[in-house]
Amino acid sequence: MAISLAPITQEDAADFWAAVDAVSREGLYLARLRAPPLEASLAFVANNIARGYPQFVARDAGQLVGWCDAIGNERDLQDHCATLGMGLLPAWRGQGLGRRLIERTLAAAWARGFRRVELTVNADNLRAQALYRAVGFQVEGRFRAGARRGQGYVDVIAMALLAPGMLSDWQQG
Ligand SMILES: CC(C)(COP(=O)(O)OP(=O)(O)OC[C@H]1O[C@@H](n2cnc3c(N)ncnc32)[C@H](O)[C@@H]1OP(=O)(O)O)[C@@H](O)C(=O)NCCC(=O)NCCS
Repeated sequence: MAISLAPITQEDAADFWAAVDAVSREGLYLARLRAPPLEASLAFVANNIARGYPQFVARDAGQLVGWCDAIGNERDLQDHCATLGMGLLPAWRGQGLGRRLIERTLAAAWARGFRRVELTVNADNLRAQALYRAVGFQVEGRFRAGARRGQGYVDVIAMALLAPGMLSDWQQG
């Protein structure tokens, strides 16, 4: 059966939490070692739905296997910006599903009116960086020792993508 992508609903929220928790526990990719409490995750999803922030989930034979979201910045002079987050369970990586999810999320982000989507990614997460570059993200900076890793640290890369047509509206400086 094909893997389906759909906007998240409140009924997906507990499964979404479980997927975030599983990827967090790998300790390599996200900024936490476990998901926030379930109640916080349910409220996060409810807020995203209420505000129209794009959040998509992928299901394979009913199982929630991945997500991608673009969460708005609620400060009024930065409300054109959204922060992208995503993850797939291990068995669903390397098959183009990440690209499907991010393309769907970016299209929804531009349609929602966001003009800039930004993200951070661990410097050693080359697969994620390759995906982000493939859809147009550019590196904007590097947070040295930005995340803990075991007993040490790893750098964190900042990347961003401007909306189509945005470059002509934007005056650098
Ligand atoms: C990052 C993630 C969403 C990417 O989705 P995916 O469907 O697995 O992506 P793909 O395997 O299709 O790879 C994307 C690109 O990276 C390339 N790639 C794969 N492994 C790579 C590696 N080790 N080094 C460099 N590039 C790599 C692929 O060739 C592909 O490029 P292409 O489209 O030009 O062929 C997914 O792997 C994932 O959930 N990883 C764990 C959680 C995570 O990292 N989340 C993001 C945190 S910022």
